[in-house]
Formats: sequence, structure tokens, C-alpha cells
Amino acid sequence: MTSRRLFVTTALPYANGSFHIGHIMEYIQADIWVRFQRMQGHEVHFIGADDAHGAPIMLKAEAEGVAPEQLVARIAAERPRYLKGFHISFDNWHSTHSPENTELSQDIYRRLKANGLVYRKTIEQLYDPVKGLFLADRYIKGECPNCGAKDQYGDACENCSSVYSAADLKNPYSTLSGATPVLKSSEHHFFRLSDPKCKAFLKQWLETPGRLQTQVVNKAKEWLEGEGDKALADWDISRDPPYFGIRIPDIAEEKYLYVWLDAPIGYLASLKDYCRKKKLDFEKFLSDPKLEQIHFIGKDIIYFHTLFWPAMLEFAGKPYKVPDNVYVHGFIGISGEKMSKSRGTGLDPLRYLELGMNPEWLRYYIAAKLNANVEDLDFNPDDFIARVNSDLVGKYINIASRCASFLTRKFDGRLELPPATFDFGARLFGLRKDSLLAEFQDRAAAIAEGYESREFGRAIRDIMTLADYANQFVDNRKPWELAKDEKNDQQLLHVCSVGINLFRLLTIYLKPILPDLAAEAEKFLGIPALQWSDAKSLLGSDHRIRPYRHLMTRVEEKQLDALFEPPAEPQATRSPQTHAEHQQHSAKEHAMTEQISIEDFNKLDLRIAKIVEAEHVDGADKLLKLTLDLGGETRTVFAGIKQVYAAESLKGRHAVVVANLAPRKMRFGVSEGMVLAASGDGPGIFLISPDAGAQPGMRVK
Ligand code: MSP
Ligand code: ZN
Repeated sequence: MTSRRLFVTTALPYANGSFHIGHIMEYIQADIWVRFQRMQGHEVHFIGADDAHGAPIMLKAEAEGVAPEQLVARIAAERPRYLKGFHISFDNWHSTHSPENTELSQDIYRRLKANGLVYRKTIEQLYDPVKGLFLADRYIKGECPNCGAKDQYGDACENCSSVYSAADLKNPYSTLSGATPVLKSSEHHFFRLSDPKCKAFLKQWLETPGRLQTQVVNKAKEWLEGEGDKALADWDISRDPPYFGIRIPDIAEEKYLYVWLDAPIGYLASLKDYCRKKKLDFEKFLSDPKLEQIHFIGKDIIYFHTLFWPAMLEFAGKPYKVPDNVYVHGFIGISGEKMSKSRGTGLDPLRYLELGMNPEWLRYYIAAKLNANVEDLDFNPDDFIARVNSDLVGKYINIASRCASFLTRKFDGRLELPPATFDFGARLFGLRKDSLLAEFQDRAAAIAEGYESREFGRAIRDIMTLADYANQFVDNRKPWELAKDEKNDQQLLHVCSVGINLFRLLTIYLKPILPDLAAEAEKFLGIPALQWSDAKSLLGSDHRIRPYRHLMTRVEEKQLDALFEPPAEPQATRSPQTHAEHQQHSAKEHAMTEQISIEDFNKLDLRIAKIVEAEHVDGADKLLKLTLDLGGETRTVFAGIKQVYAAESLKGRHAVVVANLAPRKMRFGVSEGMVLAASGDGPGIFLISPDAGAQPGMRVK
């Protein structure tokens, strides 16, 4: 087999938030594939980087009062913990905010322009006059032009699902400043995606057999071949300042490349940085006809990777090359809940590591759930426990632990393969081969095919079928019985040597998923790093193993409880402006806050209070001054309920008050507590009062 030369990437994560489980899932998928290719003896260059540019990052930095460079650097600094932690073997990690990316992006822009594929057009856009910037749809809200629902985003209504443009919103406002946006015109640069030569190229690229998953081809062709108002549009690739990005070259005005133009070029920037470190010639490397360029991405960014990106590369010309494959995965959700890209989920990967949970459990579990389709997958805690404990520990690890001790104790760790006449009981399993060892070796090709085609779930099923055979073999030949009588020593040696060899073969097959465990197993077996071709050989009579030490512990239920205890931290914000994103945003607003323990709750001293006096406060249009009786104790509390309650109506009513809130000095006096009231998105504030009979001072629990 000739060796392949692979340049493999994962999508570049936005650098405004920590990794969430969706990122880690993508890296695990790509890493398993990459490690499998390395074990095949192929040359792999696995490249990642941070996606540092764009408005959300700029605005987040601004909100934090730091420069975008500082925000991005802080996030970059925490990347290695996650990547090392989950054994993700990137060969390089870089950033789109780098000299390499500036140079390459400007070069590609110039080439596209020279090719007649860039033109300028003046367009009108909504502009925030307070913030002084043009507003992307996601920063504009208003009333739906169709149904009148309030607080709808700039492109679609969550109430009636109608789609419109931001300029059609009634009473629009900027979510950044609250100001009413104004229409302002500006000259933009467009990439002529609709050019016949682009479309012809893309059609041919998309239809190249073996390049893309069928689902992906179909989706992309829908966009490519759309007609009427669904026709493929040209792509607006420029942004006006202020913008955190790369300057458009050769023009006098200050304009920037849209982040989605420079982001995929970041793949090449990171490769270039890597080439420099490795003393490789970047252009020569890219021009090598043998080089395969492969991108792993999630389903939400198909458009960018199957239309814009290949077209950009094709028409930029050599040494740039078009991607050979774009492999798309679905989204991971937790226990049936869709994960929000902006919010992450309850499964915080860093917490997972901090709890001391084994990263290879997660790698194994995710691999078991992955196939080559664009399908979402679900993390289910019970399923996780079952698969790790029964498959991984119960079946695979168990084989080594069942055989090793006899070899160490009785034969000084020496192995000896049985003669051809040895009875494996293979007929028990209905196998083709008489030898279980030969059968295991025979299956290497089918398992390899599973890895190659990203059918990891299938590969694992194949491997676990073998693990079942191995355990049945040990069950049948009962080494612990053989060990009772010395005259069985020869048999015992053969049975255990076979067991260890079966374990070694399984280790080869699982190594792309479990690199750390495989390294430990290699130490135990006393062998160099296993390659896939090692499945052709066996450990024979001259070989000695080392004493067995337990290779993997079981996962405990309480670890999963602890894992899901903490709140979902806010995570990176999206950049593609999709309708789904907006739904996620609103989901965020409606989501309940983090869980707390009963101890936390008990810290609140909630009491029944009687309102003995309610008065207007001079100069305050929202506040009422309440005098409360807490069962002997009198308190003054300012409550923002003037607009909905007449002071007179409150006198004599009961309310619930937070009695141990630190006193707060307000403009009109000191407030010594807080009365509880309900409110929602709409107007209205509703005081909470107890059922009749409750007395001032009673505790609310
Ligand atoms: N910055 C862009 C990508 C630019 S690539 C030139 C971006 N970043 S992201 O941080 O939002 O997403 C990075 C990757 O994580 C994408 O492939 C995305 O599909 C993937 N995932 C984000 N959430 C996910 C899940 N819940 N599940 C699986 N993968 C998901 O998009
Ligand atoms: Zn509507």
C-alpha cells in the first residue's frame, strides 16, 4: 500500500469562549481518524487554530474592557488543557489573527479580484448611530412585520416563523445600545459566487464521487441550483470599521474582510506556521499532487465549506488547492436536549477532567455513537456508564487481567503459542477459522474499513464481538481450573498466551480511540508502539510480558452526578447568522438559572411581613417606601412597584421578604430587605403573598 499524505483540519473555534462538548466531540472524531491513519503508516498533518476575528469577539472584548487581542490570547492560553486532556493530537495550533493569515487572506483576495470575481456595490444597511457601527441581523430586534410579536430578531419571527429582512421590522432597536437604527449606505465588496464559472466548478466539485456525504451533496446542490428568490447570491465579503479583522488591501478606505473569508484561510495559515516550524516548504507541500486536504466540520457550517471555500481556493489558483473531502458530523446533545452553541451544555469538558474522569471513557463513548452520517448524537449518562463499564472494562480490559497473573506467577511472564492442533473451541463461535487468533487477525481489514469510513460505531461493534469471543474462550478453557494441577501447566501456558495475544490484537484495534490505554498496554506487554500492520504477527515463545497492573477503572454513577451538578457557563457566540441561532438566544433568556443545593437555598432567610405603611417617595417614579412588620421587628424596604400598585392598596397586605439581604444604600434611604414579586417579559409585577393565616415573622421554606 502506498502511503498517503494527509492535511487534516477541524473547524476553527471562535476565540471568544472556552471549548464546549460540541468542540471536543468534533476533535475526538477527527483525532480518532487521524490516529488511525498514522497507525497505517500514512503521513498526517493535523492542524487547528483559533478563529479570532469578527464582530462578536470585538464586542465581547469591548464589554470586558479589554482589547480583542487580549481576549483572544486569554482563550488561546486555555486551549492546551483541553486538547492534552482529551488526547487530541493536533500537530499545530495557530490563530487567524496572525501574520500568516493576513498575508494569505490578502493574497487570496487579490487573486480573486484579478480573476474578475470581486466587485463593489453600494448597499444600505441598518446602522447604530450611538455605537457607530453597522448592525448584523442578530443585533437588531423589533416587532414582526407580519404578526406584530415584540422583540423579534432581524431575519425571522419566532412567533409566526415568517422570514423578512431587518429593515422590515417595526420599531426596530439595536440590541447593543437600544438606539433606533438608521439606514446608511456603504460600499461593499462582493465575491461573485453566482458567476457561471463558479457554479460550473462547484457542481463538478460537489459531484466528484467519494468527496462528500450524500446528504451534504444534496444540501449544497439545493443552494447551488436554487432559483428565483432562492437563487445563489453573491457573497458580501467586506465590513466597515470598527471591525476586528484583516484589512482589505490596495484600497484607500479602511475596510475589512468579513470574518468568514479569513477564517477558513486560517487552516492554511496554521499549516504555513507549521511548515515554518518543521522546515517544510509550504508552497511545495500544498502543490504536492499526492496531498489530500480534509476538513472535519459540523453540520451548521456546510454552506461555507462546500460553496464559498472551494470556490475561493479554485479561483485563487495554485499553489492553493481545493479540499479533497469535507466530512460533516451532527450535533451532540445531552440526554435528549439540544445543545445550544452559544450556551454549551451541562457537560463541561474541563469539569469532566477536573473531576478526574478518564478522557478515554468519553472518547470511547463518543466513538461508539458515531457513524459517517450527518446525525445528531445524544450523551446519555446511563448509557455512558453501561458502555464504559460493561464493554470497555468488563470485556476488553478483563481479558488481560484474567490471563496475565498466571503467566507472571507460573511462567515468569513467558509466552508460548500453542501448536496447530490446539483446540480454541472456535466452532462454539461459528467462526470461519479454526484458530481464534487467525480469526482475530482476519478481521483487521473490516475494522480498518470502519475507521477509514468514519463508521466508528460499527468498528467498535466489530471489536466488541471479538472481545466477547475472547472472553468465551477464557470461560471455556478456565485457566483458574487448569492452574490447580501442575500437570496442566503446558495447557495453562497456551491458554493464557492465546488470551494475551487476543488482548494485544484488540489493543491494536482500539488504539485510535484509546491512545493512552494502548500505551500502557504496550508497556505491560513489553512491546514497542503498535502499528496497524502488527496485527499480522503474534507474540511468540521468546516473549515476556510485565506484571499486570490494572489498566482502567470503572466509571461511577456519582462521578456523573458531580459532572452534571454545575451550571452551563455561557460559551462562545455564533457568527453565522441563522434562524436557529436566534432560537438559541431566546432559549438562553428563558432558561432557568443554575442548580443550587439545599444548603444554598437555606442561606435565604425568607419571612412573612405585614405591610404597615406604603408611601410615595419624592423624586422616584418607580419606588414605593414600605414599612414592614416582621413579627416585632420593623424594616424599611424600597420596592420598584409604584407603576403597578397604588400605595393605599398595599396597606395591611402580607408579603414575602428576603430578611437577610445586606442593607443597600439608595438615593432615598437605606433599604433593609427585598419583597418578592413575579414578573415576565410583558408588563406587570405581581407581589407574592401567603395564604390566609400566615403571621408576620414566619419563615418561608
Ligand atoms: N468559527 C467557526 C468555524 C470556522 S471554520 C473555518 C465556528 N466556530 S464554532 O466554535 O461555533 O464551532 C466550531 C465547530 O464546533 C463547528 O464545526 C461546529 O459545528 C462544532 N460544534 C458546535 N456545537 C456543536 C455541537 N453541539 N455538537 C457537535 N459539534 C458542534 O463555527
Ligand atoms: Zn411574527
